[in-house]
Amino acid sequence: MKKDFLSIADLSQEQILELLDVAAMQKRGMTAENLAKKQVALYFEKPSLRTKASFEVSVQELGGNFSYFATDEVGKMGERESIEDFAKVLSAYFDAIVARVFSHADLEKFAAAASVPVINALSDHEHPCQVLADLLTIREKLGRLKDFKITFLGDGNNVALSLALAAEILGFEFALAGPEQHQLDYKQITQTENLDEALKDADVIYTDTWNSMGDTKKSDEPMLPFQLNTETLKKAKPEAIVMHCLPAHRGKEITDEVIDGPQSVVFEQAANRLPAQKALLIKIFAKTI
Ligand code: CP
Ligand code: NVA
Repeated sequence: MKKDFLSIADLSQEQILELLDVAAMQKRGMTAENLAKKQVALYFEKPSLRTKASFEVSVQELGGNFSYFATDEVGKMGERESIEDFAKVLSAYFDAIVARVFSHADLEKFAAAASVPVINALSDHEHPCQVLADLLTIREKLGRLKDFKITFLGDGNNVALSLALAAEILGFEFALAGPEQHQLDYKQITQTENLDEALKDADVIYTDTWNSMGDTKKSDEPMLPFQLNTETLKKAKPEAIVMHCLPAHRGKEITDEVIDGPQSVVFEQAANRLPAQKALLIKIFAKTI
């Protein structure tokens, strides 16, 4: 039975920890030709820098080949042809499919019809590949992957949901501070409009765009109190690290001072997309997740 990676919750705690160990080994240069003769399709309905680039380099460095498809070339699945037909045809040529889509429901339909593993490269619901790199970064910076707290500021989006699910799987604390109407539909975590409460004892402060790709444009107004700036930073632990999945909207959800400041690990986090994606591909092709 093939294994898809559509949600961070598709992995157990043990599988996440093993994957991060493989990622750390990749960073130490333990690259092998794990994907030799494998063909990986990248199908993207939305723009991407980090995800596209890190998957392309990962596949190549692991000895495989990739083909990138934007919707202006192949059409959007479900429009030019049915989602199921699209999935069956790609499955005939490729050994795995990495897909960035607008609709998570479409991705689930696509994965159900595909006969090869499907990896979620971001949907409106989750961004699990991002969160693998985030966990790798947190483990490197904090020296542990338990007994810590992430506070997410702003919009309860795909990245926030994947982090919240990871918190449940790994047992760390996760709080979201943002306007009530933009909080997650996920009851298991602390969600509040009170910044002080959310940031108390935070080891990691995380933010992301106030308007995700494909969102109906939201007003910045209710988001303004949740901007990650030097004042916000003071409410967390003094040694707290600052994270952002990027692309950043400087001057909106985060200020230049903070993203370029000493507590920011944002560019190491972006760099960690590469070993994280390599580890995911290795584990998918080895059928160990
Ligand atoms: N963080 C992230 O996924 O970036 P891209 O949208 O550029 O891939
Ligand atoms: N939440 C953002 C993440 C971009 C990587 C979006 O979906 O646009």
